[in-house]
Amino acid sequence: MKAARLTLSDRASAGIYEDRSGPEIERILTEAGFPITDWTRIVMPDEQPALESLLRDLADHHRTDLILTTGGTGPSPRDITPEATRAVLERELPGFGEVMRMQSFAKVPTAILSRSTAGTRGTSLIINLPGNPKAIGECLPLLLPAIREALKHLNGE
Ligand code: MTE
Repeated sequence: MKAARLTLSDRASAGIYEDRSGPEIERILTEAGFPITDWTRIVMPDEQPALESLLRDLADHHRTDLILTTGGTGPSPRDITPEATRAVLERELPGFGEVMRMQSFAKVPTAILSRSTAGTRGTSLIINLPGNPKAIGECLPLLLPAIREALKHLNGE
């Protein structure tokens, strides 16, 4: 299985701080036993055209099964991850964002500031996660059963 983790952060991509979110995604999926043999690991600035073309390339040419983004989902002017994702999705799966906001809100009232979404393009599943590594630990484990099931459906099982 092929997976990609894309960290959207102007500051991490400029080397101002270390990306801890991408490695956290990889750790959770690996520990959960996802049979990922090919990882694409990218840290990039919050630039919408660049993210759209990368998502298209990963889905259409590399046939990446699972693409997880982290960061850029909030209300700041530079946050463009949901817009770039929606621009390339063929079908939206709004439940991923809904459950992250709903479950996280119980612990962190600011969770509703994340506009994250998810969906499919071809046989790729694309999911936006918030940027904070702690938020990834709070959100990604909740999604694992639905990710497993969606990947089976996308493969025609
Ligand atoms: N979700 C969880 N579980 N934990 C958090 O700490 N932070 C919120 C929200 N979702 C948070 C969370 C905050 S403060 C913001 S601004 C949004 O995610 C968007 O973050 P992003 O722009 O880094 O994606």
